[in-house]
Amino acid sequence: MALDTHREDLEATALALARPGTGLLAADESTGTIGKRFEAIGLANSEDNRRAYRTLLATAPGLGETISGVILYEETLFQQAADLPGQPGGSILELFQAQGLVAGIKLDLGVEPLAGGLPGETWCTGLRGLRERAARAYARGARFAKWRAVLRISADGCPSELCVRENAWGLARYARTAQEEGLVPIVEPEILMDGDHDILTTAAVQEWVLRSVYEALGQNGVFLEGTLLKPSMTLPGADSSERPNPEQVAAFTVRTLRRSVPPAVPAILFLSGGLGEEEASVFLSAIHHAAPDAPWHLGFSYGRALQHSCLSHWQGSDTAAGQAALLARARANGAAARGTYVAGSEPSDDAASLFVANYSY
Ligand code: 13P
Repeated sequence: MALDTHREDLEATALALARPGTGLLAADESTGTIGKRFEAIGLANSEDNRRAYRTLLATAPGLGETISGVILYEETLFQQAADLPGQPGGSILELFQAQGLVAGIKLDLGVEPLAGGLPGETWCTGLRGLRERAARAYARGARFAKWRAVLRISADGCPSELCVRENAWGLARYARTAQEEGLVPIVEPEILMDGDHDILTTAAVQEWVLRSVYEALGQNGVFLEGTLLKPSMTLPGADSSERPNPEQVAAFTVRTLRRSVPPAVPAILFLSGGLGEEEASVFLSAIHHAAPDAPWHLGFSYGRALQHSCLSHWQGSDTAAGQAALLARARANGAAARGTYVAGSEPSDDAASLFVANYSY
């Protein structure tokens, strides 16, 4: 079987991505999503601007000290870098690799409304042609992949049983296919922060979702040592009156994960999901304190919480200021991934929440 030929490499890649004191830079915004980010700084969503921005990320000096890998959108994986003074031309991929980062690829094709589900429920598309896209990414140099399934919690019964099953099964089909093509699958069942539910409700739903995901991975013969989990933290809904402190968030998150994630999984890399940059670092550091003997590496795979200040300092032209802001949050999260982040010790433009209702990648 094809998976057997990749087993050792999959495990080695997963372990490289789980290096202590590191996490991932999720820079895989689709063309539509990066357009929303650019709009916020008054920048056109042109191919040249996307190239310039991703070249900025790839050339931030010393990025590899706290970032083990980068998730790319397909365009970026195959894109030439912007011209850099005094440097030979090359691809954005090569610039990231020169900094020691492992490259990954977003393989899902986004979510669509779930027929038969409750209003607002979705399923994740991209299984058709997946093997070919995975093989193309591998041939280009990618060694891991991501697939983001999205679930919401609502008073009218979300997530439905149908939605949980469909998304768990889709993640498992993707994970199996990615492994057969040599890519470590990041399994990402995001629970949105939308809603006014309390943290206990999130914990119960998240346990159910994660148990369903690992059951489906088992049924599909996925090799757990060659996977990574990318969950949301266990948080109350954004409209809830509950405001748990970092220790409470950490305690619930660790309880949820201990109850539902097999110890064979090498790393749990959290998404930021609309948390502010500073919050995302403080919570991750607290999670380490709550689980000093965790069987998995506990790290990050942040998109918004690594790039928010970077974008606003860059403003489409100031590369050095954008890189300085990115590196500050990378250092903060690198320390958080060891449980040593001191709140406020690295700058951020955004100490508050980056939550946007119904956010789509
Ligand atoms: P955020 O950290 O912005 O949630 O993004 C991570 C990601 O890759 C979501 O799919």
